[in-house]
Amino acid sequence: MIALTLADIAELTGGELSGSPDATVTGSVTLDSRSVAEGDLFVAVAGERVDGADFLPAAAAAGAVAALTVRADDALPCIVVPDPVEALGRLAAGVHDRLADRGLLTLGITGSSGKTSTKDLLGQVLATEGPTVSPPGSYNNDIGLPLTVLTADEDTRFLVLEMGARGRGHIARLCRIARPRIGVVLNVGSAHLGEFGSADGIAAAKGELVEALDDQGTAVLNADDPRVIGMAPRTVARVLRTGRGADADVRATDVTLDETARARFTLVAGGERHPVALQVVGEHQVANALSAAGAALAAGMAPAAVAAALSAAGPRSRWRMEVSRRDDGVTVVNDAYNANPESMRAALAALAGLSGSRRVAVLGAMAELGPDAAAEHERLGRDAAAAGIDLIVAVGPDAVGIADGAAAAGLAAGRGAGEESVHVPDRATARELLSEVLRPGDVVLVKASRSYGLELLAADLLEGDHTAGDRA
Ligand SMILES: Nc1ncnc2c1ncn2[C@@H]1O[C@H](COP(=O)(O)OP(=O)(O)O)[C@@H](O)[C@H]1O
Ligand SMILES: [Mg+2]
Repeated sequence: MIALTLADIAELTGGELSGSPDATVTGSVTLDSRSVAEGDLFVAVAGERVDGADFLPAAAAAGAVAALTVRADDALPCIVVPDPVEALGRLAAGVHDRLADRGLLTLGITGSSGKTSTKDLLGQVLATEGPTVSPPGSYNNDIGLPLTVLTADEDTRFLVLEMGARGRGHIARLCRIARPRIGVVLNVGSAHLGEFGSADGIAAAKGELVEALDDQGTAVLNADDPRVIGMAPRTVARVLRTGRGADADVRATDVTLDETARARFTLVAGGERHPVALQVVGEHQVANALSAAGAALAAGMAPAAVAAALSAAGPRSRWRMEVSRRDDGVTVVNDAYNANPESMRAALAALAGLSGSRRVAVLGAMAELGPDAAAEHERLGRDAAAAGIDLIVAVGPDAVGIADGAAAAGLAAGRGAGEESVHVPDRATARELLSEVLRPGDVVLVKASRSYGLELLAADLLEGDHTAGDRA
């Protein structure tokens, strides 16, 4: 981050400073007192279990220059504010303004599924052109986004931000912290449908990103999603359409999948055609790659450079279609970061496209779907059966509908050889069952909403000496 005096921080946050105004934060901004290093600013946030304000002495001992906090402490200089999260946003906004004046180009990405994947692709593409801030992971909320902004400095040319929403006004607020010049909307699905009420409600919220662009900006919209391309009238920015159709400005033709479910296609943009061979797994990555390509082109990159960089970009964030092969010949696909109906289908399609003797889907429930949850789980089970999955293991009480749907669609309910669907009460039972039934050549997908913790099951499946280190 850029060096900031405590006077700067007090001014930008509107906080009250105790201690010397000339002291300077030269390190980073951190919320966890255990990761404070010399020169840092410690932001004391009240969490569910602990209150950061209780850790000011610990932060001071670890070298923090100052704290942004609701309660001052003698241990170190403090900038006292009523709401440290809000103050963090203000601080990031102030720093972003300064960097934008110096030419920083900020790109925002939103959508129901694929934000992190697209951010990772775009970050790697832009990094071939200039210094880029685009951290791995999913820093897309009121805390993660300002922290990301605050890692940029005078040398940063591109800042790639993931923007998430759980309600109206959230993305508008993030855009007030870091107003993007380029805004990318991927899709409107059913993630957090329960909180939004309807897909139109989700579209209304996601579209706040393109409303925040000015007439110098570019909205990169997925023309294959009617609710996304329907956002075009909501922006004064130039609209760049991405997609498979002939009317898209940036499109993919000749899409094929290899036996590892990685896509190849021809990128058609600006009257040029260039081959792309993605390293990331699943056909859904084609849409993400097109969105990343649109954004990179809008940022001034040449189509040939974009195609080459997309082909070189690898997976960067954990638990998203993470393919590992065990020594015994079982392949485990850990996609347990999160799940909603669209991402489940994308992952099942990728599983169906992976070469292997049997395809096994170990699926937990999808959270936050609202009143349609039961029907959505059953529909998912049916679709999984239709997608050619050989064995479905639905894990946990909330996932029983998946097994029911699969059984109704023809997979026999029960255990034994051949096609089937099974419901198990918990992870431990799933692990036991899988250790009995998995055979060399099987490919196992593990996926659920994050709250169900199936990444632990994926880790268990790979535990010990099973991995041969092939983490694709
Ligand atoms: N464009 C897409 N359409 C549908 N599903 C997708 C898409 N991109 C990714 N996914 C699925 O969603 C999962 C989460 O992807 P991620 O990039 O972390 O999304 P987000 O950050 O929006 O939650 C992936 O592992 C994959 O199963
Ligand atoms: Mg994410």
